[in-house]
Amino acid sequence: MSNTNVQIFDTTLRDGEQVPGCKLNTEQKLIIAEQLDLLGVDIIEAGFPVSSPGDFKSVEAISKIVKHATVCGLTRSVENDIKVAAEALKYAKTPRIHTGIGTSDSHIKFKFNSNRDAILERAFKAVSYAKSFVEDVEFYAEDAGRTDNDYLARVCETAIEAGATVLNIPDTTGYCLPHEYGAKIKYLKENVKGIEKAILSCHCHNDLGLATANSIEGVINGARQIECTINGIGERAGNTALEEVVMILKQHPYLNLDTHIKTEMLYGISQLVSDSMGIYTQPNKAIVGANAFAHSSGIHQDGVIKNRETYEIIDPKDVGVTESAIVLTARSGRAALAYRAKNIGYGLTKLQLDEIYLNFLDFADKKKEVNDDDIHKIIESSRLYKEIVSA
Ligand code: KIV
Ligand code: ZN
Repeated sequence: MSNTNVQIFDTTLRDGEQVPGCKLNTEQKLIIAEQLDLLGVDIIEAGFPVSSPGDFKSVEAISKIVKHATVCGLTRSVENDIKVAAEALKYAKTPRIHTGIGTSDSHIKFKFNSNRDAILERAFKAVSYAKSFVEDVEFYAEDAGRTDNDYLARVCETAIEAGATVLNIPDTTGYCLPHEYGAKIKYLKENVKGIEKAILSCHCHNDLGLATANSIEGVINGARQIECTINGIGERAGNTALEEVVMILKQHPYLNLDTHIKTEMLYGISQLVSDSMGIYTQPNKAIVGANAFAHSSGIHQDGVIKNRETYEIIDPKDVGVTESAIVLTARSGRAALAYRAKNIGYGLTKLQLDEIYLNFLDFADKKKEVNDDDIHKIIESSRLYKEIVSA
C-alpha cells in the first residue's frame, strides 16, 4: 500500500445493518458483498458472527465468495466471540478479526465496572488470542472519541505489542469536532510507540452531522483507513458515508490521498443498498441523492446549460448518474424550458418561446414540477402549435 492510499473499510453489512428494521438475509448480503468487492473496497466487514447463527452463516458465505477484499468479522474482547469469528472466516482468502473494547471512562465504569489497567489487560489478551487464528487483527478502542489521549495511546501501544495490524479509533457517539478528531489521530501518530507497525483507522458516527468531516480530518492527520457505509447508514444518525469520503478525496487531488474505488459504481450500489434495506435515501443526500445533480432555479439552469461546471463540482457520470437533470418549476427560466422542449422534439424560436413561457409559468404555478408530458400539453394547447410543429 502506498503512503497516499486510504483503505476503504466498508461496514454496511455490520454497523450499517444495525439500523432498526433493516435486517438483510444472507442472500441479500451476498449480492451486496459481491458488488462491494467489484466496487473496490479494501475490507468488507461482513458481520458479527457470534451475535446470531444467521450472522455466522452470512459471514461464512461471504468469506467464500469474495474474490479481492479482505473479509472481516467483529468480536468483543471475549474468547468465544473470537473463536467463533475465526471459524466463520475460515474460507476467506484474506481474513481479518476486528476485536476491541470500550476505553472511555464512561464505558470502563458503566459498561464494565472495571478500571483502566484491567481494560489494557483484556485488550492485550483479545488481540493475542485473535492473532492465534489470523495474521490480520484490527483492534477498536470503542468510544475513543471521548477517551483521553494519554490513555488511548497506552491502549494503542498495548494492542500493537499484542500484534494488532490496524488500530481503529472510533468516535462511537459522534461527539468530536473535526479539529479534535484530527488532533487525536496526530497525537497517536506522534506518541504511540511502535505506531509504524500499524495503520490508524477512522470510524466516525454522524450524531452531529460530522462523520464525513471527521474522517477526512483523520486521514489528513495520518490515518490510512476509513470505516464507512453506503449511504452513511448505521446506528442512530449513521456512519461516515462511503460515497462522500471517496469523492472528497477524488475531487481534492492536492490532498494527495486516493482510494481504489470505482466511483462509476457508486450510484448503482447506493440504490441496491437502499432497495435491499427498504431505506429511502433523502433527495438532497450528497453524491447519490435524487437531487444531487438536479437544477431547478432559472439562474442555475441557465448556467448549467451553458457549461455544466458552473454549478457542478462532480461530473455525474463519474458516480454513475447518466446526466444532470434540469427540473422545471415555476422558478425555471426560458433557457430551461427551451432545453427541455428541444429534448422532446420542439425547436422553439425566440418569439415562440416567449409566448409558450407565459403558458408554462401559468401551469407551473399550479404544479410543483412540470414533466415532459406537461410540456407536450402546454405546447399542444397553444395557438402556436401548428406553427411550431410545421417548422
Ligand atoms: O462505533 C463503534 O465504536 C463501533 C465499534 C464496534 C467498532 O462500531
Ligand atoms: Zn460504529
